[in-house]
Amino acid sequence: MSSALQALAVIGVVLLIPYLYRFYNFVWLYFVRPSSAHEYLHAAPAYALITGATDGIGKALAKELYDQGFSLILHGRNEEKMRKVVDGIRGNGARDVLYFLADASRADHDFERMMAPFMDLNITVVVHNVGNSDFTKERIDAFSKADLMGIANRNAIFPLHLTHTLLPRLRLSAKTGPVVVQFMGSMAGEISPPRFAIYSASKSFLKALTRALDNDERVWGTPTGVHFEYLLTGQVQSNSMRLATSLVTPASETYAKAIVARMGCGWRAYCPYWIHAAQKWFMDIVGEGVQDKYSAVAIADLVALHEKKN
Ligand SMILES: NC(=O)c1ccc[n+]([C@@H]2O[C@H](COP(=O)([O-])OP(=O)(O)OC[C@H]3O[C@@H](n4cnc5c(N)ncnc54)[C@H](OP(=O)(O)O)[C@@H]3O)[C@@H](O)[C@H]2O)c1
Repeated sequence: MSSALQALAVIGVVLLIPYLYRFYNFVWLYFVRPSSAHEYLHAAPAYALITGATDGIGKALAKELYDQGFSLILHGRNEEKMRKVVDGIRGNGARDVLYFLADASRADHDFERMMAPFMDLNITVVVHNVGNSDFTKERIDAFSKADLMGIANRNAIFPLHLTHTLLPRLRLSAKTGPVVVQFMGSMAGEISPPRFAIYSASKSFLKALTRALDNDERVWGTPTGVHFEYLLTGQVQSNSMRLATSLVTPASETYAKAIVARMGCGWRAYCPYWIHAAQKWFMDIVGEGVQDKYSAVAIADLVALHEKKN
């Protein structure tokens, strides 16, 4: 082999290394790594706090974490709906299923007062799941400022205030074992599709917050044992995403199992569900131009679908 060919072969192998490493991580995370959810069950009873737990992913996650041995603190906005969820879960066991109610579209809550009944409990898992945005043809100037703030509040500011209030409690819980705070992210935060500006920006805010808060607790000063994760979520069938289930659109129950299986995996921002990870990989390869065109078509289809179903 000529030295030019040898040099090209070496360059080829070097360029392949990141892809091979990424593939290795993919196989390890989704098909080999055992779940470490039980590690958060220290100093029993261990509580998982889940926001937006009356429907969709949050409700499925509450059931899944209860089945894994956690006591629960759930959040919703509708007492009747919440009671049905609580009764359904309590039917399966004797552990606590507590709840609180708050409209997450508002940021003017007294968070200290709201969390006071729970601050003596050993909270080891927090999932900031609440969030959504309407499927609409309208651009932002068709919304009132209050409506825009409502989207930002329920997707970004409510989780921020709740985390701010809970942190001292979480550091206490972390004295006996690991504690994780998960923010429910979205592919929208990666590709910023049309008509989802505030939602996408809110999810990007959560992603940046995850990394910074994790660094706060870990790399400057004595590590506290509180970790933060951002869950990169693609399409999941739920109350707001009324699509048929498929490989790319798992049921909320399937997705909840994926979240619990990957919890504490060591990555800060990751897709809990393997097909979403493959989609993300593909999106990164095709680049922004293709992403923008594809996402415009996908959003137009979703808007049409939701208009038909409403
Ligand atoms: N499903 C997807 O395809 C998808 C994709 C990417 C990211 N996500 C993210 O996943 C999370 C869960 O979404 P989902 O699809 O499971 O939604 P969902 O089925 O509509 O459930 C949303 C939950 O949040 C609650 N909620 C909504 N607005 C609220 C408010 N203003 N105050 C208090 N509670 C409120 C709902 O309460 P009610 O029961 O009273 O309505 C419900 O419990 C969200 O953060 C969403 O952005 C979902």
